[in-house]
Amino acid sequence: MNILILGSGGREHTFCYKLAQSPQQPNLFIAPGNAGTAELGTNLAVNPTDLEAVALAMSQHQIDLVVVGPEAPLVAGIHDHIAAHPTLSHIPVIGPKQEAAQLEGSKAYAKAFMERHNIPTAPYKQFTAKTLNEGLEYLETIPAPYVLKADGLAAGKGVLIIHELAEAKEALTDMLANKKFGAASEQVVIEGFLDGIELSCFVLTDGSGHVTFPFAKDYKRIGEGDTGLNTGGMGAVSPVPFNDAVFKQKIHDRIISPTLEGFKKDKLDFVGFVFIGLIRVGDDPYVIEYNVRMGDPETQVVLPRIENDMMELLSATAQKRLNEVELHIRPEAAATVVAVSGGYPEAYENGKEITGIPNDGLIFHAGTTLDNGKLVSNGGRVLASTGFGNDIQEALTSAYAGLTNIAFEGMYFRKDLGFDL
Ligand code: AMP
Ligand code: GLY
Repeated sequence: MNILILGSGGREHTFCYKLAQSPQQPNLFIAPGNAGTAELGTNLAVNPTDLEAVALAMSQHQIDLVVVGPEAPLVAGIHDHIAAHPTLSHIPVIGPKQEAAQLEGSKAYAKAFMERHNIPTAPYKQFTAKTLNEGLEYLETIPAPYVLKADGLAAGKGVLIIHELAEAKEALTDMLANKKFGAASEQVVIEGFLDGIELSCFVLTDGSGHVTFPFAKDYKRIGEGDTGLNTGGMGAVSPVPFNDAVFKQKIHDRIISPTLEGFKKDKLDFVGFVFIGLIRVGDDPYVIEYNVRMGDPETQVVLPRIENDMMELLSATAQKRLNEVELHIRPEAAATVVAVSGGYPEAYENGKEITGIPNDGLIFHAGTTLDNGKLVSNGGRVLASTGFGNDIQEALTSAYAGLTNIAFEGMYFRKDLGFDL
């Protein structure tokens, strides 16, 4: 079995790590991958959003199954491209088609989906440059803080939470009239502010059956105490202590079930991972956002907790027999800590030599590459250390221990993960 994994982050290294443990011993190809994935498979110098290049690589390497890591290739239509390809159309792709990928690619599409299927989320309205004045008037009618979301993909930067009305009006004007986020902000969703604590839910579906993975919580801000700029994610823990049985049941009944039913009613034929960003307000769950892929760094705690053969999980998804699968979860808690380049999420330098990777730790590479055989940094998020423990604190201690000997110039990681739990 030849598997192609699209992407180059810690999430994709974790997929490789789980697949490499499979008794089925699949051959792994990763496009473009990193220094960690290169140890477990073959990295291909292919840009995952270059659909024709991906198709060519699939033919060249006789790929039997494709797993899409990040959202960009899905939003660009990689699944549709393969499904319409003269010689590749029979090859299963784990990841939705372009229509369903809009759940992540367009905030307005996602809000309309939730409204249509009665899924709890913040109230909202959407505006374009033509309706800017109505948008400005709308802001005057709602309480602060104001939540402004660029409709399209904006690398995690498209959501603004603003406390002053004047500033919110300025930001809306910037987004719509001055296209602050380019095409992504041609449309803007303004939604009500939800005050609560966030958690993430991951579902793998084959279009009819599904399995719900362990829940996780990630830490998005660069600074300790959840301060400073948003990042791709500085760490994560699983399970989520405040996600008790009663709350889990509410998530299942009010959110997971109607979401999967919504896919069916809308004939989306969703095959792949659904990552539901949730917030607990009082005792009730609300959806903050949908993503159509696994989370990064949540994957680094979620997949290591799953005992099932990952190859079998993916095959069952491809063959639409997920209903027969029973998930087995390790009882221990897991935590992951992300080490980033100095300066991230703003400007940073690549090419810093990385030393001290332990032989016995669970280190997932993200922005790493080999430069003449030397391991060097090659991205903002460089690597993540995952640890296990009897509870979150023990898991964090173990994850931090994995970083003890690792060093590169400018290396930074948050030392306060779990502070809010
Ligand atoms: P999103 O890209 O939609 O997930 O938004 C990014 C982040 O903004 C979320 O992880 C939340 O922390 C925050 N956020 C988004 N929408 C809301 C909302 N309606 N109320 C409060 N916080 C929000
Ligand atoms: N960690 C958040 C994400 O993957 O979008």
